[in-house]
Amino acid sequence: MKIVVAYSGGLDTSVLVTWLKEHYNAEIYAYCANVGQEEELEGLEEKAIKTGATECLIDDLCEEFAADYIYPMFQAGAIYEGRYLLGTSIARPCIAKGMVEYARKVGATAIAHGATGKGNDQVRFELSVAALAPDIEIIAPWRMQVFRDKFPGRAQMIAYAAEHNIPVQATAKKSYSMDRNLLHISYESGVLEDPWYDGSTPADRDMYLLTTSPEEAPDQAEYLQLLFEKGNIVGLQVDGIADYAAKVGVSSTGEKDGYTLFTPYGVMKILNFLAGKHGVGRVDIVENRFVGMKSRGIYETPAGTIMFEAHRDLETLVVDREAMLVRDELIPRYSQMVYNGFWFAPEREALQALVTETQKSVTGEVRVKLYKGNVICAGRRSPNSLYSEDIATMEEDPTQAYNQDDATGFIHLNALRLKLQGLSKNV
Ligand code: ARG
Ligand code: SIN
Repeated sequence: MKIVVAYSGGLDTSVLVTWLKEHYNAEIYAYCANVGQEEELEGLEEKAIKTGATECLIDDLCEEFAADYIYPMFQAGAIYEGRYLLGTSIARPCIAKGMVEYARKVGATAIAHGATGKGNDQVRFELSVAALAPDIEIIAPWRMQVFRDKFPGRAQMIAYAAEHNIPVQATAKKSYSMDRNLLHISYESGVLEDPWYDGSTPADRDMYLLTTSPEEAPDQAEYLQLLFEKGNIVGLQVDGIADYAAKVGVSSTGEKDGYTLFTPYGVMKILNFLAGKHGVGRVDIVENRFVGMKSRGIYETPAGTIMFEAHRDLETLVVDREAMLVRDELIPRYSQMVYNGFWFAPEREALQALVTETQKSVTGEVRVKLYKGNVICAGRRSPNSLYSEDIATMEEDPTQAYNQDDATGFIHLNALRLKLQGLSKNV
């Protein structure tokens, strides 16, 4: 039997590799998706082999993650329960797809992951695999009594690793858990389980890795312009763009109308840096997990916060009122689909088609100001603008498109049912 295992090189997944190999008498194929977690991936293959894997694949999915998952989700304006920009949720289907492809390549019949039995991630991984490869078996050791009995705590894992010569770094356990990718870092569990605890004790003050605190952010605001094409950010204009790009290690793909063009991944790397510098993108929330319980999470979503705000701002200029309302009504549904793990589901694909339709006109520019934790939209323009200064003006309208006399009848007819209602109450 061949099993593909989601592998990071940490204690948990290393133990998983060795344990699965023994328990199933299987050949283990370690799979590590690079979705921008900025972890040391060098030497990982060697480590996996030493741990007992037959082979290890480090799969660079950064561009794909940005272009095929994050960007379509931001076109939809997705935000879970009004506040969570879905950073972990959206990475799961991307990683699951990579795992399935690897399983096919090496001829594995099972996929194993190290997500717990109480969270969302197990659901997202498994629903994604179910949709993409219905025949592949899922192994979730944390839901197996034998595994939990063997590893009731971290101490048993460390002992097991030593016993089996598993190369693991003895890093001190953090007082919370983290999940990092191109879109965000999430912090939860441990000390953060108390929803009143604000993470500001000296030990945890350094928790935030992507953003400076708004208090320490520059006193000088920074202006930035974003170029959109059909709801996607394709270019940036900001003083020092070349330096910023160099700093985060991305190169531009061209120039257009004074904008420097980048791939979705390149755009996000630069926006992460700029937003991070200005303390943009922190949230501290209690959310509802799909499996039923409430959970407290702290998130840093620097680039995502700019993308979300700027995108919505451009939409106000170019999308029809009723089309926007229909799309907006569906945002909670779409967001729930992403959160709950139904990315590869017909209902998400159907909504995506509607979103694509609404994004046809979302081309143009937005100017934003970054200042001490805030992203403030400060200008928008588009060749597709539906805004007419002539019609909106309180001065004389040269187009005569709006006749104020018409408003009288408009209000009378709208008032009719309210009058009937008022009369029936006999007030
Ligand atoms: N609560 C967030 C979510 O469900 C973050 C989960 C973090 N996952 C993790 N394995 N640390 O999307
Ligand atoms: C986990 O349970 O593996 C992490 C938390 C979550 O998935 O919600």
